Amino acid sequence: MPTAAIDLAALRHNLTRLRQVLRPGTAVMAMVKADAYGHGAGPVALALMHCGVTWFGVATPAEALALRAAGVSADILVLMPVYRDVAALLEQEIALTITDDLSLTALREQRRPGQRARVHLEVDTGMGRLGLPPEGAERLAEQLARTSEVTLEGLFTHFACADEADRSFTERQMARFQQTLSELKRRGITVPLTHAANSAGLLYPEAHFDLVRPGIALYGYHPSPVTKPLLPDLKPVMTLSAPVVFVKRVKAGQSVSYGAEWRAPSDTTIATVRLGYADGYPRALGNRAQVRLHGALCPVVGRVCMDQLMVDVGALEVNIGDHVTLFGPEGPTAEELAQLAGTISYELLTRIGERVERSYVE
Ligand SMILES: Cc1ncc(COP(=O)(O)O)c(C=O)c1O
Repeated sequence: MPTAAIDLAALRHNLTRLRQVLRPGTAVMAMVKADAYGHGAGPVALALMHCGVTWFGVATPAEALALRAAGVSADILVLMPVYRDVAALLEQEIALTITDDLSLTALREQRRPGQRARVHLEVDTGMGRLGLPPEGAERLAEQLARTSEVTLEGLFTHFACADEADRSFTERQMARFQQTLSELKRRGITVPLTHAANSAGLLYPEAHFDLVRPGIALYGYHPSPVTKPLLPDLKPVMTLSAPVVFVKRVKAGQSVSYGAEWRAPSDTTIATVRLGYADGYPRALGNRAQVRLHGALCPVVGRVCMDQLMVDVGALEVNIGDHVTLFGPEGPTAEELAQLAGTISYELLTRIGERVERSYVE
């Protein structure tokens, strides 16, 4: 079976490194949406909770409820507007995001009498995805402050370009966010928790408010090269491996896989590996990537299939049941493969499919 081995010691190491660059008093809201970027939200959140992480960020109601079911007793925030399942979320003391009047209306209509609603208001300072621009958010904050059944617990924004070398866009976002905070203060509205920084936002100490919201850095990857000097020794948490299910000798000129595109340049040995694009290994990596077998790098040859891919192992000794490593800390890394496939490590990691077993190692 293909396996994603999740190194919990590496996860803890990355958390420690992140904490070392935070301003004193700033805490971590660990982003565990999309099944903790493919690493398994329950076990990852529990491991982080045991290291003192008190907040977790998810994208959907189902993700929040699954964390509670897994035994996560820490605070959880759903970072998208919620239009259904409001009562079930409030029952589990999950904090909700308010992005506009509609999300507030859904909250008020679905809240059961007596349920306390803790909300975080998102301000759109430039991401252009969710939330109202400062003036609208200030009006909404005032309305929330006057609504007795709702506690305005947090105010946040999200950066669009913090992973770029040019800091000007993020600085403009920060200025807008600061203005919103000052305006709320002027109006006598106090919000206990403020947050803005994703992993790349850690580069901006003034964005380390009460909480920061790192995702990718916890899993050992950088949003872009700009964060490498700040966090030089992150450790990739996931190692993806899969078993060899078939071995054969091929003659020079013989083709392998769909389209008969790849032909053996000389007599060689081909190993068929039980992992394909339906498991999240990008089809774009056919004839491009390498895998590791017994420590050596071997090329993926021919097109990647739905359930298998083929590797030219050359003169290496290989047997059915041997495991190849598709990516991991020894390389290739998820980032290198993502680049070859024209995507980002986030997409590669979050797409590792359900047929891949997650195993947790210390
Ligand atoms: C609102 C929000 N905050 C934080 C993050 C974490 O971002 P990163 O994984 O780049 O640290 C994300 C992820 O996309 C997000 O959508």
